[in-house]
Amino acid sequence: MQPLLKPKIPSPLEKLDSSLLPNSDVEVWIKRDDLIHPQVSGNKWRKLKYNIQALAPDAHVLTFGGAYSNHVRAVAAASKLCGFEATAIIRGELVEPLNSVLAYATAQGMKLLPVSREDYRKRHDVSWAEVQRRYTGATDVWPEGGSNALAIKGVKEILHELDQPFDVVCAPVGTGGTLAGLIAGASAGTSVLGVSVLKGGEFLLDDVRGLLADSGDRECSTWSIELDYHFGGYAKSTVELREWIAHFSARSGIPLEPVYSGKLFFAVYDMIAKGRFSPDSKVLIIHTGGVYW
Ligand SMILES: Cc1ncc(COP(=O)(O)O)c(C=O)c1O
Repeated sequence: MQPLLKPKIPSPLEKLDSSLLPNSDVEVWIKRDDLIHPQVSGNKWRKLKYNIQALAPDAHVLTFGGAYSNHVRAVAAASKLCGFEATAIIRGELVEPLNSVLAYATAQGMKLLPVSREDYRKRHDVSWAEVQRRYTGATDVWPEGGSNALAIKGVKEILHELDQPFDVVCAPVGTGGTLAGLIAGASAGTSVLGVSVLKGGEFLLDDVRGLLADSGDRECSTWSIELDYHFGGYAKSTVELREWIAHFSARSGIPLEPVYSGKLFFAVYDMIAKGRFSPDSKVLIIHTGGVYW
């Protein structure tokens, strides 16, 4: 299958000016994966790269997501750019007029198949997914968020692009695929810190372990997931978070959205202010992109 056109790889690595940081000796660097590609950016590009390469020329991909899923949006964009067919099973009813994500997806030629929230819960059940695959005529099934072994292989490459060591690498956690890839790719001496964007995200620890087991990767670094920066849950936010994002973006020129990157950056700043990182440590934030709606 044709690769995605003109990605900006390696993605830029930027050091945050210390005047933008709370009074601390911690160094903060940002891996700007959000700049990789205009339509398939951030962790989406990393996760889809090998999945797209593995497709046969007449492939038809079936995948899953909520009505505002960045993954659904990215698969739709990739299907148009690379020339494969795509169908997405969407959680809940399709409300007309379609929201910007779903309108964009259909404009790229993606077919949308809404299912009840109850049916959507079966998405991890292999036999249910197989029934959907046959029904839609798809050749390949990509899980929610694209998190599978090939996605982990792609995410690992973020760390291969670095020309210097970091003490801590941080990323947001939705399904856990990005964090699993970072854990798999981190060298000894680097700890990996995830920030859950979901409320009640304790289950993500097992999900990440499961993804690592499926991909045959070992847990080669110390890692953990912060569970207290969800701001009410997935896609929920507060005035405090939105104001913090606006202030940070205005000063740094780095765009953040409130679903993933905003929660991650806020969490890292809060942890610096609370002395969670040892003095003089070097912290790397992976900017996983996202859509600013
Ligand atoms: C922009 C962005 N960042 C981070 C994540 C979280 O990644 P993961 O689902 O691999 O945990 C997602 C969702 O997949 C996302 O869309």
